[in-house]
Amino acid sequence: MNIKTKRFPLLPAITLIVLSTGLSAAEPIQPVRPVENIDPVLVELGKKLFFDPRLSKSGLISCNSCHNLSMGGTDNLKTSIGHGWRQGPINAPTVLNSSLNLAQFWDGRAADLQAQAGGPIANPGEMALTHELAVEVLASIPGYVTEFELAFGADGIDIDRITAAIAEFEKTLVTTNARFDQWLLGNKAALTDTELAGYTLFKDSGCIACHNGPAVGGNSFRKMGLVAPYQTTNPAEGRSAVTGKDADRFLFKVPTLRNVEMTYPYFHDGEAATLTAAVDIMGRLQLGKEFSEEEQAQIVAFLKTLTGDQPRFQLPILPPSSDHTPAPKPFD
Ligand code: HEC
Ligand code: HEC
Repeated sequence: MNIKTKRFPLLPAITLIVLSTGLSAAEPIQPVRPVENIDPVLVELGKKLFFDPRLSKSGLISCNSCHNLSMGGTDNLKTSIGHGWRQGPINAPTVLNSSLNLAQFWDGRAADLQAQAGGPIANPGEMALTHELAVEVLASIPGYVTEFELAFGADGIDIDRITAAIAEFEKTLVTTNARFDQWLLGNKAALTDTELAGYTLFKDSGCIACHNGPAVGGNSFRKMGLVAPYQTTNPAEGRSAVTGKDADRFLFKVPTLRNVEMTYPYFHDGEAATLTAAVDIMGRLQLGKEFSEEEQAQIVAFLKTLTGDQPRFQLPILPPSSDHTPAPKPFD
C-alpha cells in the first residue's frame, strides 16, 4: 500500500483544527474589557469635575464641551473652540477608551490621564484658568470641600487631587459590547457578510499593522504619510515636538478606531470629513492601495461595528457656588 494514501487523509483534519483554534487566539483585535478596580467615590467626584464649567475662566467651558459624551467623547469639529472663541490648533480626540492609550495627546506628550487633565484647565486657548484659581474656585464651594474629603480621606483640594478624580472618571469611559466584540467572543451572527469582508480587507491590506489591540490603535506612534506624503496646512509636527528628533517628524499616535463612526471629522487636522474619505486616504498614503468603492464601503461597514455601548449615567448635579466663589470672566 502506498504510504501517502495512508497518511494524507488525516492532514486536512489536522490543518483545520490547528487553524480554527489558532485563528481565534491570533485575532489582532481584542474585545474591550469592562473597567476594574475603580474607586466609585472618586469616580463620582471626577464626573462632576468633568462636567463643571467653573474650571474655565469663562465659566462656560467644561471638559464635556470639547469631549461631549453625548457625541462619542468629541466635539465633532475640525479643531476645537476654546476661551474667547479661539480656534484650536488640532482635532480633539475622543476621551472614550483613552485609558487604553500608550500616552495622551496626538504627540503623546502626557504620560497618562492624570498628567493630561491639568493641561486644558490652564491652557489659555482652552479653559484659560490657572491651577491656583481652579483650586480656589473649588475650595470656595462647600459641596466640593465635603466631597474631596470623602474621596481622599483628608481635607484639602489641590490640582493633583482634581486631576486624579477626573482621571478616575475617565477610566470608566470604556465602551464594551461592540458588535465586533460580540463576534470576537464567538457570536458569529453578530456581523453581516459585508462587515466581515471589510474586516478581512482591513487585515489583509495591512491596516492592522497600526490599528490593533483592544483599542484598534492607541498603542504606537506612526508616520502619517508613510508611502506618500500627507498634504496639510496644519503646522502640527507630531512626535518630534516631544522627542526633538527629526526622525519623529509627522509621527502621530495612531488613533483608536473604537466608536470611529461617532468621532468625525478625522485626522489630527480634522480634514477628512467622512469615514469613507479617511479610509481612502489611509489606503493610499499608508499602504499604497487604491480601494474600489465596494471595498471602501466594506471597510467602513466593518469600522461601524466597533461602536460599543456608550457611557450611561445620570447627569451630575453640581454643587452651587458660594458667596466667596471667584466670578467667571467670560469676556476677558
Ligand atoms: C477647548 C476644547 C477642549 C477642552 C475644554 C478640553 N479638551 Fe481635551 N483635548 C482637546 C484637544 C484639541 C485635544 C488634543 C490636543 C493635542 O493632542 O495636542 C485634547 C486631548 C485630550 C485627551 C487625550 C486623548 C488622546 O487620545 O490623546 C484627553 C484624555 C482629554 N483631552 C481630556 C480632557 C479633560 C479631562 C478636559 C477637562 C479638564 C479636557 N480634555 C478639556 C480639546 C479640549
Ligand atoms: C503605518 C500605520 C498605519 C496604517 C497601515 C494605517 N493607519 Fe490609519 N492611522 C494611522 C495614523 C498615524 C493615523 C492618524 C493620522 C493623523 O491624524 O495625522 C491614522 C488615522 C486613521 C483614521 C482616522 C481616525 C481618527 O479618529 O482621526 C482612520 C479611520 C484610519 N486610520 C483607518 C485606517 C484604515 C482603514 C487603514 C487601512 C486601509 C489604516 N488606517 C492603515 C496609522 C496607520
